[in-house]
Amino acid sequence: MTRDHHTILRQGIVETCREMNRTGLNQGTSGNLSHRIPGGMLITPTSLPYEQMTTDDIVAMDFSAEYEGNHRPSSEWRFHRDILKARDDVNVVLHTHSTFSTILAVHERAIPCFHYMVAVAGGNDIRCAPYACFGTQALSDHALAALDGRKACLLGHHGLIVTGPTFEKALWLAVEVETLAKMYVHALAIGEPPRLTEADMAQVHEQIRRMGYGQAPDLDGVGDLPRLKSV
Ligand code: 13P
Repeated sequence: MTRDHHTILRQGIVETCREMNRTGLNQGTSGNLSHRIPGGMLITPTSLPYEQMTTDDIVAMDFSAEYEGNHRPSSEWRFHRDILKARDDVNVVLHTHSTFSTILAVHERAIPCFHYMVAVAGGNDIRCAPYACFGTQALSDHALAALDGRKACLLGHHGLIVTGPTFEKALWLAVEVETLAKMYVHALAIGEPPRLTEADMAQVHEQIRRMGYGQAPDLDGVGDLPRLKSV
């Protein structure tokens, strides 16, 4: 990986952070974002508002926790490091205190399969990790367990973690999960909504895989799927 590639990733971090603010996923100095580099990660600095952040402010950190940069890394470097180390499918780790995900997290509630789109986070629910203080190894351990077989999880009394192969897909999933959380919180106003069945969800997972929907790998049109016209 060249210096130029690092520059592109630094720009990607800054642009994605600005997008997190623009979409309302984030506010103030809450939230953090990382991208994998060989042997480590590029990560947002701690306590710096995203509107002020430039590419020079991004911190390079290796998996042994040594870092280079003008700032200290995000206080949540442990879960960023541990997720990137444990999960080959992940290049980007995104954390926010987005409002509706956090409303559920303060109630220690997972997002169940009340809506089929829960499947885009990889399973039949989006788990809520037990509470641990921010910046601790305990929080990282809980997050990693809650992410087992999943692309996203809530953090009890704290917020949301979303992972992805690219900035675009991680941001897309963060908006989807926050929207699901918003729908679930509103649905609860008239009672606990019924769940889709295991069979319903198995069909949705298969449909996502078959159609290359959202986070799934892009597939060529097969069977009854539409094909791009060649000219
Ligand atoms: P940092 O500014 O250290 O990244 O912390 C923000 C946060 O959201 C902690 O969970």
